[in-house]
Amino acid sequence: MSNQESNSNAMSDVPLMQVKGLIKEFKAGEQIIRVLHDINLTINQGEMVAIIGQSGSGKSTLMNILGCLDQATAGSYTIFGQSASQLEADELAKLRREHFGFIFQRYHLLGDISARDNVAVPAVYAGMDSSARSERAEQLLTDLGLADKINNRPNQLSGGQQQRVSIARALMNGGDIILADEPTGALDSKSGEDVMQILRNLNAQGHTIIMVTHDPKIAEQAERVIEIKDGYIIADYKNEHYQHSHLKPESILEQHRKSAFSSFIDRLFEAFKMSLLAMRAHKMRTLLTMLGIIIGIASVVSVVGIGKGSQAQILTNISSLGTNTITVSDGYPYGDPRRQYNDDNLTPQDAQAVADQPYVISVSPQINSNTNVRYRNIQEAASISGVGKDYLDVTGETLIQGQGFDEQSILKRTQDIIIDDNAKRTFFADKPNPIGEVILIGSVPGRVIGVLAANDGGFGRGSADSPTLYMPYTTMMSRIKGTAYIGSFVALIDNNISSAAAESAISDLIKSRHGADDFRIRNSDSIRQTIEATTATLTLLISSIAIISLIVGGIGVMNIMLVSVTERTNEIGVRMAVGARQSDIMQQFLIEAVLVCILGGLLGISLAFGIGELINRVGGESFKVIYSSTSIIAAFLCSTLIGVVFGFLPARNAAKLDPVDALSRD
Ligand SMILES: Nc1ncnc2c1ncn2[C@@H]1O[C@H](COP(=O)(O)OP(=O)(O)OP(=O)(O)O)[C@@H](O)[C@H]1O
Ligand SMILES: [Mg+2]
Repeated sequence: MSNQESNSNAMSDVPLMQVKGLIKEFKAGEQIIRVLHDINLTINQGEMVAIIGQSGSGKSTLMNILGCLDQATAGSYTIFGQSASQLEADELAKLRREHFGFIFQRYHLLGDISARDNVAVPAVYAGMDSSARSERAEQLLTDLGLADKINNRPNQLSGGQQQRVSIARALMNGGDIILADEPTGALDSKSGEDVMQILRNLNAQGHTIIMVTHDPKIAEQAERVIEIKDGYIIADYKNEHYQHSHLKPESILEQHRKSAFSSFIDRLFEAFKMSLLAMRAHKMRTLLTMLGIIIGIASVVSVVGIGKGSQAQILTNISSLGTNTITVSDGYPYGDPRRQYNDDNLTPQDAQAVADQPYVISVSPQINSNTNVRYRNIQEAASISGVGKDYLDVTGETLIQGQGFDEQSILKRTQDIIIDDNAKRTFFADKPNPIGEVILIGSVPGRVIGVLAANDGGFGRGSADSPTLYMPYTTMMSRIKGTAYIGSFVALIDNNISSAAAESAISDLIKSRHGADDFRIRNSDSIRQTIEATTATLTLLISSIAIISLIVGGIGVMNIMLVSVTERTNEIGVRMAVGARQSDIMQQFLIEAVLVCILGGLLGISLAFGIGELINRVGGESFKVIYSSTSIIAAFLCSTLIGVVFGFLPARNAAKLDPVDALSRD
């Protein structure tokens, strides 16, 4: 008979399963125990076979091999014309998913989900459409008399009801071949009889049934009985009165199969749901696991936020110095051997030459000194600054009383004085309007024409607690210091010009005038860069400490995931028996790890916001924590990554479990 003929003719003539010279051995410590000896067996489509034998005779072992849950040590097992030993783990899973339906003595239902969802699990892995899935699950449960128990969880059902749920699950994907290991073993005789009736009906509809029992009365009801003793088949006979069915069970999966992608999404969703259930079942443990992640993420985000906040505060202070300024000071740079205590070499003409450049908006020469200042009977050491008329523009300071200097003040060397709020407090504590009052600077009298607004710790301002007086730099040069030089000047640069370019142009200009680089030059931008670099370094430092906390947190996650896999080994076995791929199991645990970490990350970010709010309240007006979206996104990605990295090992352990081993553990 050729293959062609055999396919088109009655299927029952073609062996569905063929076992030849099958041997199964187990390792028990040093010893190797042979459990099945030279089994030869052929099972045809549509048969109802009972495997009977004493406890320990090897029934379950044979059944597991037939159901592709386990592999033979030697010999061959052919199913649907394929040699089982040559199939990959995922191909075996496909066989279990699409053709086998397992019924176990102890039901092996998943405890966290409803009867309907339990029944639907195999269809999730087979890629059945979700509405078709629940519809079919409910229909199967109704057919088995459980219409009112659809939403019950397994622990809300009796043993017989649970066994019927597991039968419905076996039929979910069609279940052409039903493998039942002691299906009535845990049931009372009435429920056991019900289950047998269901199995006989299924056989009449064309399902091939292979069941294991140690009860001869149950075995009598089957079409064929195979008796095993100590791993040998000792009898194999047919019940002549049995009505063999020539029907074929309808194929379910072909009607409802979804695209590979939406099936993948479906399985992802199922894994997601299972992860949430697992996390809900162990709330405290989940929270403690997350703690490391929460602390790590919260510290990274807060540190970056606080760093940005203080940076912004410093930068606002700098910008009160003028947005784009370049300061040139006399004397060789610090550390230069030519530097002397009194390096007088910067002249008002240098300042003027710079002021003439097209990219320079204004220039304010400055010359500083410390002198005793007297007003009536109050005498105090003060710093005196000789400044240009544009001083206020360049530094961004403002007057609250009186007026500033003008061109005439500079040209005529007027003895006018502007005082800061500190000086006002020192000398004019009881005089609300000091304008017009005369102060003695050393022995030179000066008239107050303006008062500066208070500047809270402004950057580049003289020491906050010594009073500061300003006068035209020309007056200062001739009347107070008696010099032809200025100490420094500040140039306000056009904002469209890069401060680095302006700096080098000004530097070249003065170098050519002096014939030496006997001056120091700095721009506000380089100060900004220095501050940015400093805060960046600090952030990096503290972040690396936070990263250590994240790694410790990740190890905690890994530890808990390993525990979780151990706890749920039985569930993994059930999922594998109904046809979950290794990747499905892997996905489920990986998603759980990632979910724990993402949740930890989100809580960490919220905690950081809480801390920031607290700091903002304590810090008052001047200090605000600034959250950078980059650091938040990075924290989020980082926690996800930790989940993947530290969840990988436990998830792979779960996926690599042997289905039989996993099922036998409780
Ligand atoms: N993983 C294993 N490692 C070592 N020995 C095993 C393993 N699984 C089964 N065995 C041994 O194989 C033999 C057959 O076991 P099996 O479970 O097939 O018996 P059984 O016929 O199903 O018995 P029961 O009616 O009690 O279920 C037993 O002696 C058992 O100890
Ligand atoms: Mg057994």
